[in-house]
Amino acid sequence: MTTEHGKIAKLSVDDISVPGTEVSVYQALYQRRMAWHFKDEEVPESALERMLEVAVWAPNHRLTEPWRFFVVSRAIPLRQTLGDQAYEVSMERRGDPKRAENTRRSILDAPVLIYVYCVPGANEEATQENYASVSCASHNISLAGVAEGLAVTWETGGATRHPNLNKTLGAEEGWTLVTMLSVGFPAESPAAFRTPVNNFLHWHK
Ligand SMILES: Cc1cc2nc3c(=O)[nH]c(=O)nc-3n(C[C@H](O)[C@H](O)[C@H](O)COP(=O)(O)O)c2cc1C
Repeated sequence: MTTEHGKIAKLSVDDISVPGTEVSVYQALYQRRMAWHFKDEEVPESALERMLEVAVWAPNHRLTEPWRFFVVSRAIPLRQTLGDQAYEVSMERRGDPKRAENTRRSILDAPVLIYVYCVPGANEEATQENYASVSCASHNISLAGVAEGLAVTWETGGATRHPNLNKTLGAEEGWTLVTMLSVGFPAESPAAFRTPVNNFLHWHK
């Protein structure tokens, strides 16, 4: 939103009407799961809007706001192009038409796709910080998804590696894709395991 002077109007946190949810922060953190099969059910646009709105409240050093989002609805010609590109990369990498077709189908069938990009910073350090911030923003989307009953699945593999992807979506050449998120009501409840944190922890007391 721009003001009459052409400046982007900033939101204060005091302007936000926080969506109500029964899900606690800890529930969202533990119960968030990625899914690879989705119900054939529309994702309400209002839910998507809430998830995207919360994305930009991720921490970002020097308030660079380095995220850029491209939401792609299902059954539009752009999906076909993205599916064809994913097929092409898979064939180039693995040469297996069946596998490549599965990749194409996953792009065509996901109820909603969100491509999350990071803009470069003024130097390498700032670019690295930007990438970290965009990861946080993507995770905000995933966590808000729990409150909406939606699974949000990250993909950084071949389906996101076509050399023309930025052009296809309308992203600038220098932007880096951080993740492609498939969003939908999950048709599965994948089991989840983690190694307890004590195995990775050095606590200097
Ligand atoms: C940076 C990142 C990239 C990922 N890329 C892929 C991917 O390309 N393909 C895939 O199947 N899952 C991908 N995942 C999802 C992980 O496989 C998933 O987090 C893991 O299976 C654990 O599932 P959970 O997060 O639901 O516990 C990615 C996750 C992250 C954080």
